[in-house]
Amino acid sequence: MFFFGIVALLAVPTPAFGVTSSLQSILRNTHGSKDYGYPTDLTRDLLPVSLCMIFYLESFESSQTRTLLTLESRVDYWRDEPFYTGLSHGCTSTEADVWLYNGTLYVGHDQSALTASRTLESLYINPILDVLERQNPESPFVSKPTKNGVWDTDTEQTLYFFIDVKTSGVETFKAVIAALEPLREKGYLTTVKDGKTITNGPVTVIGTGETPLDLVAPVKDRDYFFDAPLAELTDAKYADITGIVSPVASTDFQKAVGKITRDTDPILGDAQLKALRDQISTANERGIGARYWNTPYFPIRARNLVWRTLLREGVILLNADDLDAVTALF
Ligand SMILES: *[C@@H]1O[C@H](CO)[C@@H](O)[C@H](O)[C@H]1NC(C)=O
Repeated sequence: MFFFGIVALLAVPTPAFGVTSSLQSILRNTHGSKDYGYPTDLTRDLLPVSLCMIFYLESFESSQTRTLLTLESRVDYWRDEPFYTGLSHGCTSTEADVWLYNGTLYVGHDQSALTASRTLESLYINPILDVLERQNPESPFVSKPTKNGVWDTDTEQTLYFFIDVKTSGVETFKAVIAALEPLREKGYLTTVKDGKTITNGPVTVIGTGETPLDLVAPVKDRDYFFDAPLAELTDAKYADITGIVSPVASTDFQKAVGKITRDTDPILGDAQLKALRDQISTANERGIGARYWNTPYFPIRARNLVWRTLLREGVILLNADDLDAVTALF
């Protein structure tokens, strides 16, 4: 604890009020010294927000000027990298919209947003691999290989990586499975064995959008999952799905729960609250976590009340475009 306290203090550029001048001088002189860094300190100041925010490219593109909290000064070339933006806000989940063209997976929220250099590999696979390699160094002090997650403050926390398939499902998802190879090779993915046992890894890949259920559910040994439709879990097609296939199921909040018509507490009407509770408990009984997207973003008061209600009712991931707002609120 003591060690961590020192590290946290050093991360503050000007020593906090109340620190004596002699201690301030020690802090100034030792700041930057190798003795006070450690191999896995890349994410040392970042606390994973357990109820996470999904980060969309749209929101990123409209907020390029936003300061990247903790990582800003060291690495401003990361500004164009959505994965790092989410990471720096403590997001335990990230999402990429992928399009397959001529064998390459490009990333962007629609076709006109695509460029030759913004690929799944360059924007997600390589950066995630780079962070994990830093969190799992080889050194004479490490007695056996580690499988730490991206969070130095919580190495057991997995990063949910939603891959939203936009082009033809079967072909595109097969390309996604192949693209995961660098993470797979290092043992960084959450896996399923014999269709029964889940072994948590630093990254849990969940196919969404056009991802075909048939490419996931029948596969006994795999390292990818399926984002089931949360509001349709009782339909025959999804009746057998458990957390082994879908650790998380999602749905459109406004369609599945309803439009928000007030901004006072309670924010949901009785029928809306019942729908929400039924969906979450159906999921949880099968070991599936619930996630809602398309929650209202305005008025701010209504948005915040919906976020609070979802957290209280037990969603596993909170979807938010305004990462600064959500981290300030919780
Ligand atoms: C795919 O390949 C075809 C044929 O070589 C080419 O005309 C087309 O521009 C390529 N598309 C992209 C997105 O690279």
